[in-house]
Amino acid sequence: MKNILITGGAGFIGSHVVRRFVKNYPNYNIYNLDALTYAGNLENIKDIQNESNYTFLKGDIVDETYINEIFEKYQFEGVLHLAAESHVDRSITDPLAFVKTNIIGTVNLLNAFKKIWKDNFDGKRFYHISTDEVYGSLGETGLFTETTSYDPNSPYSASKASSDHFVRAYGETYGLPYVLTNCSNNYGPFHFPEKLIPLFINNIINKKPLPVYGDGNYTRDWLFVKDHAVAIDLVFHQGKNHETYNIGGFNEWKNIDLVRLLCQKMDEKLGRKEGESEQLITFVKDRPGHDLRYAIDASKINKELGWMPSVTFEEGLQETINWYLDNTEWLNNVTSGEYSKYYEKQYQ
Ligand code: NAD
Ligand code: DAU
Repeated sequence: MKNILITGGAGFIGSHVVRRFVKNYPNYNIYNLDALTYAGNLENIKDIQNESNYTFLKGDIVDETYINEIFEKYQFEGVLHLAAESHVDRSITDPLAFVKTNIIGTVNLLNAFKKIWKDNFDGKRFYHISTDEVYGSLGETGLFTETTSYDPNSPYSASKASSDHFVRAYGETYGLPYVLTNCSNNYGPFHFPEKLIPLFINNIINKKPLPVYGDGNYTRDWLFVKDHAVAIDLVFHQGKNHETYNIGGFNEWKNIDLVRLLCQKMDEKLGRKEGESEQLITFVKDRPGHDLRYAIDASKINKELGWMPSVTFEEGLQETINWYLDNTEWLNNVTSGEYSKYYEKQYQ
């Protein structure tokens, strides 16, 4: 049995990764380390909590002593690092929280990994999960490739860029065996409703205004979260050491077009009049430093590891809408308390 550490496994993407690894790899002991911040929720992984190869560890990656202790105790041979502060808008109001978790937290993990395996890195792997936002913003054309220069514009993307640099530096300086992926926007079940798609689904359900930043002509490349989990599985097991892979959905949407599609699909599903939810669209003050366009060239992971998204956007979005409508209790739980304060402040 190999001991594998997954960080941030109570969050959105991490919960899908933990579920996949616990179910598909009975020969791994999966340790899910999560601080359970506002974004972490044990309900996201309730279905696997009693599996014999699964253990939850509540802890903060910024806590160096604790991180060293668990690495000593469990001798993790593989790490999949997803824990992060992940929301751009929150990074604009509180950059330091992003420096702590995304940079210091990552370096703590790298140090602990290096410390226990320094004499023998054979068969060990540190997998850092990152974002396409580190590349900055594209104009109307072009794609991010693995060799695009880093040019982050938000405190969030600057902190993720910094963590990527530390991972590579540990590879070069100490020979630490790493793989790194930069992925585009994910969507799907368990997505926290501070992000565009789940926030708008929640507001459509509750007939609240849909706050589109600026003119809505910003473009993102959307990938269904379960397809990201498949890519992560492939890279962890078959990716080459010291390599980066871009992961994307081949699926670019301008925000305003995506919001209109969502309104249409929600109206159909909720039995509302055609065009009813579109009337909720409200153009609001733009996000400062808003990146115009992200789009990923995912040909490397496709050619080298044979990965492609398995669902169309139509299918993924429908599954997502259905999930939120079937899980209103989850939605109501995560939008009570702290969320309402955040919402008031952000959208006042
Ligand atoms: P999320 O915000 O939904 O989840 C983050 C998880 O990390 C939460 O469970 C939270 O409790 C935990 N966490 C936060 N700070 C912690 C700390 N100090 N110690 C331990 N745990 C902590 O994030 P997500 O959207 O699932 O993103 C996961 C990773 O994937 C992040 O590294 C993010 O940068 C990256 N990523 C996300 C997307 C996306 O579209 N969501 C796309 C590309 C890459
Ligand atoms: O590209 C990958 C990144 O995608 C991840 O690294 C981040 O963790 C993840 O949050 C996401 O970042 P974005 O900033 O692209 O996602 P968000 O859902 O916040 O916003 C998507 C687009 O929608 C963006 O152009 C801003 C816009 N938007 C967002 C919100 C929350 C609005 O117009 N209104 C809103 O209320």
